[in-house]
Amino acid sequence: MKLNSANINVMVKACRKAAKIIIRDFGEIENLQVSLKGPGDYVSASDKKVEKIIIEELLKARPDYSVLSEEIGEINNNNSFRWIIDPIDGTSNFLHGIPHFAISIGLEHNKEIICGIVYDPIKDEMFSAEKGNGSYINNQRMRVSARSKLKDCIIFSGGPRSSSAHKEQAFSEYKKFSSHVDIAIRKLGSASLDMAYVAAGRCDGFWQRDLNYWDIAAGIILVKEAGGFVTDFNGENEYLQNKTILVTNSKINKEMTEVLK
Ligand code: IPD
Ligand code: CA
Ligand code: CA
Repeated sequence: MKLNSANINVMVKACRKAAKIIIRDFGEIENLQVSLKGPGDYVSASDKKVEKIIIEELLKARPDYSVLSEEIGEINNNNSFRWIIDPIDGTSNFLHGIPHFAISIGLEHNKEIICGIVYDPIKDEMFSAEKGNGSYINNQRMRVSARSKLKDCIIFSGGPRSSSAHKEQAFSEYKKFSSHVDIAIRKLGSASLDMAYVAAGRCDGFWQRDLNYWDIAAGIILVKEAGGFVTDFNGENEYLQNKTILVTNSKINKEMTEVLK
């Protein structure tokens, strides 16, 4: 049986409250798709509303913690604990009426992620993890996959944005993978869910450039507690360095770093 810590309970409560707004607004998007203006402004308003609810709820329970959140940036309360929030990860999907996006909340202590949740409100899947206590999908323990050869794997990636300075490098990585092995590469459009899916063993690895900390903070602990690795492209640093990330089930780490070299 899974026992939630007080911090996870705080995160889940904030997340479920915000999810009601996301689900309602997502329902409106379909109508807005056909309007001339499109749902653009509506989506950015929705993002901000959701962020406000999450931060209010988190700070109600933990008023002295600091915050880093995608839309509002930093609230620095000089505390060793800090919430890292992406209110809607997968905004392009949300905007286009594609039901694949998530709320992502991580909790840092002394710069290390100690708990995280990623919640897909449409599929009602709550991924959660806490340092030393394992990773869960809803109330079930999850583990990374056991596949050890890239040729048998499904690998996720994301980007590159057309504005990315690393656009050419990112394209060349796709080429390197496909010339290495006949591999299934997917771009699902939500980095936090990409990581949650590696943790759940649904896919075997994920790599991407130009990510932000709020995209991956919660995912880091989900993957580590499920037995996977989170490193840079050299398979070294544990945390996001130079905005690049390599996430694997651990078994294919070496093969993936060799391709990315
Ligand atoms: C984006 C998603 C996407 C990734 C982008 C992120 P957003 O976050 O995680 O999968 O490829 O790099 O910016 O903008 O939807 O919160
Ligand atoms: Ca994001
Ligand atoms: Ca976002």
